[in-house]
Amino acid sequence: MKIAIIGATGLVGGEILKVLEEFQLEITELLLVASERSVGKTLTFKGKSHSIIGMQEAIDRKPEIAIFSAGGSTSLEWAPKFAEVGTTVIDNSSAWRMSPDHQLIVPEINANLLTDNDKIIANPNCSTIQLVMVLAPLHAKYKIKRVVVSTYQSISGTGMKAIIQMRNEKSGEKGEMAYPYPIEENCLPHCDVFLENGYTKEEMKLTNETKKILDPNIQVTATAVRVPVSGGHSEAVNIEFEEDFDLNEVRQILNNTEGVTLKDNPETNTYPMPLYAKGKNDVFVGRIRRDESQENTLNLWIVADNLRKGAATNAVQIAQYIIEKQLVPSA
Ligand code: A2P
Repeated sequence: MKIAIIGATGLVGGEILKVLEEFQLEITELLLVASERSVGKTLTFKGKSHSIIGMQEAIDRKPEIAIFSAGGSTSLEWAPKFAEVGTTVIDNSSAWRMSPDHQLIVPEINANLLTDNDKIIANPNCSTIQLVMVLAPLHAKYKIKRVVVSTYQSISGTGMKAIIQMRNEKSGEKGEMAYPYPIEENCLPHCDVFLENGYTKEEMKLTNETKKILDPNIQVTATAVRVPVSGGHSEAVNIEFEEDFDLNEVRQILNNTEGVTLKDNPETNTYPMPLYAKGKNDVFVGRIRRDESQENTLNLWIVADNLRKGAATNAVQIAQYIIEKQLVPSA
């Protein structure tokens, strides 16, 4: 497989390189692509130095797969050009997620929807991926009516600029701001831009993408908050089911779900935290308890590394799936 990584110098791009090494995909040629200002610089993959190339050169070399993590406008402009030369694009931006002509994929849940006609495949939003990984097996068993989710999102989701802002604030230096306010010692109830309905785009992504992936009948309402954590998103989730559940059975279901790790024991202070999810591919779930204010309702806490399962790992899993199922022609 000839694989191109678009946005290779970015935070997600760097994580994709790590995950590609760990997953041991058979890569005959790796094309590392970034903006013109990075062309000619080098990055290391499996101990070998690779030069960064520009977008057009990557298209001319017709990779079988291109994984995009370079922002929505770059995807909108360039992904169709890769698709035109026969490349299958896996896109981390929000550009194609809600398009009825494009699949929105979390491999453990709905990779079976993919065919060799899917030339641009959308990777869901980081907060959505970790949420649906936990909701999917519970929906299959008890049918979810409504979800109320509050997020505690790390600054790595905003990209390198946000990491630099927090570093500058810690060291007392002045510099470019990724956010309208300081993030250190602060919480911003503001992820992505505000929309006309008063919600942020991130909050509506959580609602709309969850419905598209799982079931349009599930009601979802979200509050997304940026917190001064450098890696790993957390979510407090309230889930109302059609049917009643047994708490032990809920734990058992989640414990048996591929890609989900249960960390739930109040007696030993065991619960998921971003510090321990960092660098891991799984989604962690704990604090599982009945909502005593309403029937058939559950509270839980979900944490995952947003750069891993929220972006890089999910994208590489999609690549692995389409290679294994021969949905891309081999080199
Ligand atoms: P560059 O490093 O050359 O700016 P992050 O979200 O962590 O800031 O990363 C964004 C990634 O997207 C970087 O690799 C960045 O490259 C890349 N990128 C941004 N704009 C473009 C573009 N127009 N064409 C290709 N890559 C781009």
